[in-house]
Amino acid sequence: MTEKKDKSTGGKRPVFGILAEYSDPAVLIEAAKKVRDAGFQKWDTYTPFPVHGIDPAMGIKPTILPWIVLGAGLTGLTVGVVLQWWTNAVDYPWIVSGKPFWSIPANVPIAFELTILFSALTTLGGMLALNKLPHPSHPLDLKERFERVTDDKFFLLVEASDPKYDAEEVAALLGEHADLVEPLLDDDQTPAELPRGLIYGLVILTSLAIVPFAVAAHARESKNRTTRIHIIPDMDAQTKYKSQRPNPFFEDGRSVRPYVDGTVARGHLREDDHFYRGKEGDAWARTFPNQVEVSEATMQRGREQFDVFCAPCHGYQGRGNGMVTRRADSIGAGTDGWVPPTDVTDPVLEKQPVGQLYNSIANGVRNMPAYGSQIEPEDRWAIVMYMRALQRSRNATTKDLTESEIASLK
Ligand code: HEC
Repeated sequence: MTEKKDKSTGGKRPVFGILAEYSDPAVLIEAAKKVRDAGFQKWDTYTPFPVHGIDPAMGIKPTILPWIVLGAGLTGLTVGVVLQWWTNAVDYPWIVSGKPFWSIPANVPIAFELTILFSALTTLGGMLALNKLPHPSHPLDLKERFERVTDDKFFLLVEASDPKYDAEEVAALLGEHADLVEPLLDDDQTPAELPRGLIYGLVILTSLAIVPFAVAAHARESKNRTTRIHIIPDMDAQTKYKSQRPNPFFEDGRSVRPYVDGTVARGHLREDDHFYRGKEGDAWARTFPNQVEVSEATMQRGREQFDVFCAPCHGYQGRGNGMVTRRADSIGAGTDGWVPPTDVTDPVLEKQPVGQLYNSIANGVRNMPAYGSQIEPEDRWAIVMYMRALQRSRNATTKDLTESEIASLK
């Protein structure tokens, strides 16, 4: 602590500054104005409650904190927007719920959150930094009279470290209406160095704090034959063999057992080529198999299944203009190697054997995916039947109509 220009103590303990005590806020304000006009810099006032007009009286300029916070908020906004734009629109384009890769509304929450986060943290940090906080100890803490600052007394302290400080001058400046003016001694007895025990304790604690991280890092990098400890047993750990895992119980060590020689599948053999594969001998079947009843009910079932599974691409009339196609057209997918769905009423397909149409549904064809896993054989045949109906309706002439139907057209 500085002892510069100190004339008043004459002794060992350094002077921290000159403290004046007042019992009226108006008097304090007058004293503050004098100190301000005298050009002091390292001084402050202390009051039990906020005093109106004390800021101008002390010559305190408005804080720049709002501007710092504005800058931080804008930074947060920019970071939020750029982060989302870079991650989802540029670096790793990923469709989420069919939304565009880059869409402002979807990005509002994160951008908003980061704006608030940056602003709030900066407000707190900026307030502390501008006020030079935390300030663990102050000579005023030990001054008994000063305790009344939370009750009914007002104080003004000019620090001895102020370049203009002069004990007598300051005392005269403050003294006029003060209840008391006296030097504030720096009574702080705290040793300058931290206690040894505390330092050793901190070193040991810091070293111990590394242990959990080291254990976690080791666990991530090492392989272990035993299952992890499961505090809450969930489906991660099941008593079962995963495929290709060995099983010491059997002589050949396999967990997946081969079929016993001579095993015959019951009910799943599907040896009827006509019904299950649309084939008669080596050629595509030209007729419907016996299991399929050629009836209005089958036709309706086929229509229903076609509308569910095929219409999204091929359209309800099978012309190849379903929703998927229209969407692809609207975003210009044609230039991107997009293959449009075939018009299934095309005369070429009308000449295709039913077995081949059946096969296209079951196993897919060129760019069209297979639907065998989703549609049962009966329904595949029903769809083929409905496709035949679509083909006929497309290529129908007046010869296909009854007399009365023709009459109703006129
Ligand atoms: C995801 C879109 C999509 C769906 C759904 C779809 N298809 Fe296709 N389909 C295609 C495309 C694309 C082609 C043309 C493939 C090519 O030429 O590479 C095609 C071709 C076909 C063909 C012509 C095959 C040939 O030999 O040329 C038939 C028949 C057909 N689809 C029937 C169906 C039926 C029946 C369904 C419903 C079970 C269906 N498709 C569902 C996209 C689809």
